[in-house]
Amino acid sequence: MTQKRIVLIIGGGIAAYKCLDLIRRLKECGVTVRVVLTRAGEQFVTPLSVGALSNEPVFTNLFDLDAEREIGHIRLSRDADLIVVAPATADLLAKMAGGHADDLASTVLMATDKPVIVAPAMNPRMWLHPATQRNVAQLKADGITVIDPAVGEMAERGEAGSGRLPEVPELVARIETALGIGGPALAASNVNSPSERLPLAGRHVLVTSGPTHEPIDPVRYIANRSSGKQGHAIAAAAARAGARVTLVSGPVNIADPSGVEVVHVETAAQMLKAACGALPADVGVFTAAVADWRIATAANQKIKKQAGAKAPKLMLAENPDVLKTIAADGPQRPGLIIGFAAETDNVTAYAAGKLKSKNADWIVANDVSPETGIMGGDRNRVHLVSVKGVEDWPEMSKEDVAEALVARIAAHLRAHEDASE
Ligand SMILES: Cc1cc2nc3c(=O)[nH]c(=O)nc-3n(C[C@H](O)[C@H](O)[C@H](O)COP(=O)(O)O)c2cc1C
Repeated sequence: MTQKRIVLIIGGGIAAYKCLDLIRRLKECGVTVRVVLTRAGEQFVTPLSVGALSNEPVFTNLFDLDAEREIGHIRLSRDADLIVVAPATADLLAKMAGGHADDLASTVLMATDKPVIVAPAMNPRMWLHPATQRNVAQLKADGITVIDPAVGEMAERGEAGSGRLPEVPELVARIETALGIGGPALAASNVNSPSERLPLAGRHVLVTSGPTHEPIDPVRYIANRSSGKQGHAIAAAAARAGARVTLVSGPVNIADPSGVEVVHVETAAQMLKAACGALPADVGVFTAAVADWRIATAANQKIKKQAGAKAPKLMLAENPDVLKTIAADGPQRPGLIIGFAAETDNVTAYAAGKLKSKNADWIVANDVSPETGIMGGDRNRVHLVSVKGVEDWPEMSKEDVAEALVARIAAHLRAHEDASE
């Protein structure tokens, strides 16, 4: 394969430091990285460190006499296979959306005929500002790929929300996908045909993940301890395997996986609506810990504590069963339905019961007793229950469980395809 080349434009954001690692990781994947630093970007990382890591000249100035003897900005923008802007500042997004070309970065972006990916990173208020959102919508309409920022703590003390630059492995994965090259895990596994590398290509996989929040009043809710780590890892693994993935996520504190369409919901009723709205799908993986009950009548205003008054009584009503509803026989039922069962005792016995009562094809059961540390933790020990019996999988990371499950899904679909040929 010919060596892939990217131009990386580093804007003047606090997350610019992550790009030093990004350059290293991309080089390890055999990608040539030529960097354009904005003037503000130079305040955060130096041309010296960028040049040393990329082993390429670093470009900072539109009116560079040497480079411009050969109209350098045009060549720079055309020689690459892909242009990546990371971190894309609010300012750069505005310039791009408005078609400005008043420095090297914006001129390269205007002059290019190659695909462009932008990874915005900024303070959550800047990100949510109507002007930024308008600019992002414009860029998407212009065919530019926008990697949504991750959610979490900001560099500024006491600030949190959406606006973090996604972590470097995620950026590398998105860039590799755009360049049409496999990730490190795929590269290492020596599989080369597209159907082996992307065994879920052409499939639509629906995944639910995280907890649901059931409101008591506008400020209080009932929830559970699900972190969404397992469901998000499955969605990410399915996307890496080439599937189109719709992830319906309850409220979680982890980033949206890349390459996945995410629908954010809060309650069980919203999760059911979003999941039904995502059909048809070839596979449904129901990892979310959907609340069994909601408050029968949530208050419209905050319930006030009153001196001498009794504590309010909460009346519960049963929630819709997302897994059971979608697994019911009918034309919209995905061909393969996988439910998750989080239990604290009699794990596999309950899971076998759930397999039948929910009309699922497989149940992935796990023991979420507090001493296992699985709920919210990074590792999982699961049992795969199907009509064929129970398979006990060894303890592994949630990412590895996701990879193994996706491999099983691909093998299952393949076997069914072969059988029907
Ligand atoms: C300490 C500091 C941190 C900043 N971090 C960000 C940031 O994360 N995201 C952003 O959009 N702007 C950030 N800014 C503002 C930009 O640097 C400023 O808008 C600049 O004009 C961007 O220039 P550029 O888009 O050409 O790189 C920061 C400014 C300072 C002083």
